[in-house]
Order: sequence, then C-alpha cells, then structure tokens
Amino acid sequence: MTTMESLIGLVNRIQRACTVLGDYGGDSALPTLWEALPSVAVVGGQSSGKSSVLESIVGRDFLPRGSGIVTRRPLVLQLHKTEEGLQEYAEFLHLPKRRFTDFSIVRKEIQDETDRMTGRTKQISPVPIHLSIYSANVVNLTLIDLPGLTKVAVEGQPESIVQDIENMVRSYIEKPNCIILAISPANQDIATSDAMKLSREVDPTGERTFGVLTKLDLMDKGTNALDVLEGRSYRLLHPWVGIVNRSQADINKNVDMIAARRREREFFATSPDYGHLSSKMGSEYLAKLLSKHLEAVIRARIPSITSLINKSIDELEGELDHLGRPIAIDAGAQLYTILELCRAFDRIFKEHLEGGRPGGDR
Ligand code: GDP
Ligand code: NA
Ligand code: MG
Repeated sequence: MTTMESLIGLVNRIQRACTVLGDYGGDSALPTLWEALPSVAVVGGQSSGKSSVLESIVGRDFLPRGSGIVTRRPLVLQLHKTEEGLQEYAEFLHLPKRRFTDFSIVRKEIQDETDRMTGRTKQISPVPIHLSIYSANVVNLTLIDLPGLTKVAVEGQPESIVQDIENMVRSYIEKPNCIILAISPANQDIATSDAMKLSREVDPTGERTFGVLTKLDLMDKGTNALDVLEGRSYRLLHPWVGIVNRSQADINKNVDMIAARRREREFFATSPDYGHLSSKMGSEYLAKLLSKHLEAVIRARIPSITSLINKSIDELEGELDHLGRPIAIDAGAQLYTILELCRAFDRIFKEHLEGGRPGGDR
C-alpha cells in the first residue's frame, strides 16, 4: 500500500472508532476530527440509480435497489482496503463481531434493519445504518447512500415526507467535508434534476460536486447526452461521468457485477456518440476519479487533521488516565483504539515527511 493509502485507511478507521464511541467523545476534539474527515454522499431523485452507482463503485452486490422508495434510512458505508488474499467480509455496527461473507445476506440485513426502525412501510428514518466492508478490491472511502428526493407523498406516507427527505439529504451534503455525487438519469431533462438543484444550493462553486448521469442506455433513439457530458448544459467544475448500471431486468436475472461492468465498458467503447469519451466514462472510472479527489482533499487537509489528531492524542491520554479501570471498559477500550490509530497516523505521516517525497508516492 502507498503511504497515502495507509493514511486514508487510518483516517477511515479513526472515523469508525469514533462512531462506535458515539457521544462518549463529549467535549474532546473527536467530534471535530470526524467532521474534518471527508466522505462521499449520493443525492438524487428516487430511482435515479443512486444505490446502483454506489454498488458499482464498491464492485459488489449488496444494496437493496429497485423502483419506488427502497432506501429509507441513510447507509454509512466504510470501505477498508485490506492486504491481497484475505477473505472479503462486511460488518454492521449494530451487529459487532459478526462477519458477513455472503453479500446477499448483507442486503437482507440492510432491509431488515431498515424495517426494524421504520416498520414495513414507506416511512423513512434519519437514523443511519453503519456498514463496513473489508476487501483487497476496494479503495479506502466512506460512502453514504441516502433516500431519494421526491416531489409528492404516496399512499401510506405523511405529507411531510418530501421536506423530511430533503432536510435529511441536506444535513449530509451541506457539511464542507462531504463530496457530493449528484445523480441524474439521462432519460429526464437535466433542467428538472433534483440532484443538481440541491447540490448547487449547498455547493454553489461546485468544488465538491461530481455530476453523474445514469441510464444512458435508456435514452430515446436518436438522442444523446453529449450536451450534458461535455458540460454545455450544466457546467460543473469537475467533469461529468456517464454511467450504465444494471436494469431492473438484469437485476431480476441476477446479472453479476463483472458482467455488468464488461457490458458498461462495451457500451461506451462501441457507442457512436460516446466512443471518444469512453476512457472517462463508467463506474470504474468514477471510482478512480473519486479516490484521486479524496486523496487530494486529504492531502490538503493533512496539516489540520494532524493537529487535530495530536490534540486528540493529548486528550485521550488525559481521559484514559482519569478513567481508571472500573468504569466503562468498552468506552475505555474504544478510546484506547482511537489513541493507537491516531499515533499510527502521526507516525506514518512523519515518516512520509521524512521520506521527503511530498506527493510523489505513486
Ligand atoms: P435509487 O432509488 O436512486 O437508489 O435507484 P436504484 O439504484 O435503486 O435503481 C432504480 C431502478 O433503476 C432499478 O430498477 C435499477 O435497475 C434501474 N437503473 C439504475 N440505473 C440504471 C441504468 O443506468 N440503466 C438502466 N437500464 N436501469 C438502471
Ligand atoms: Na429506488
Ligand atoms: Mg436507493
């Protein structure tokens, strides 16, 4: 692993440890530390393809997808890159120590845990589900799947749901550390895109917004999305990325991720409209683009993250000193874990500086 990969990995693990600790962090620098660490959230209308895009970034099938309101609680998904050759597994915060190696069971548990909070209705809940995936095939990233924006309440939903969802989504994407994946389907007019409207509102300069256009395969014959993809319809700071996810028919037929990615690559490579853009389109390209961006963001934030981490080390040491043995063994252990991670970050960071290879570790 490169130094940068291990730093991002550590940042990820500190984030997770802070989550486990919950409010225990109290007045310490930990909550601030959490805020300083970047994550990626999806925003878009219902069924625009948000969960599908996240799945293909991860390269695994595990999210509930489909028509209507399927994602009804935020899912905070942490990807942890492991050494080559280790068994891939997932772990939920609400089911500690249970390792899931079958990703269809992960999907089932997301559905069940959603229902536990909301009932088997079309209600939503702002209480997030936390899931970690450990794999050699992922990049170190925190991704957040969110319920889709809607325009009207449907049968069984309170009238307030439209505003509730918007507020929930906004609470994630308005954070300055949040990188926004603004998802719009190519078979709808970009001018009516909820994703663009809300992301422009919270990020007017577009420095943390990535425009993603899904469903390119579903456009009417004789039309194409070049005006959007080439930035003429809606200018963004970062380039637009076009995507072809699996259709509902593919999902029903269990078309796997590898086949889906191959088909997506073929779609762009052989397309008379998009052929010239094909190296900058598709889910794999999007994943690379995001991790490069994340790396740049973390690099730029390293000085402030380092000083927060040093502050946390001091505080954690003080906290552990006066904690003593008897109380809150779990919290104590968790604080200790965070302390160890912070020390590791500090050490690797210093080695990186002493190595004298600023920005040159690739
Ligand atoms: P979400 O509600 O925004 O999370 O969207 P989902 O990922 O659940 O997708 C909604 C539906 O659209 C599913 O049936 C997907 O199969 C389908 N879908 C998503 N993206 C694409 C795409 O690029 N092409 C096609 N044909 N269908 C897609
Ligand atoms: Na959906
Ligand atoms: Mg969804």
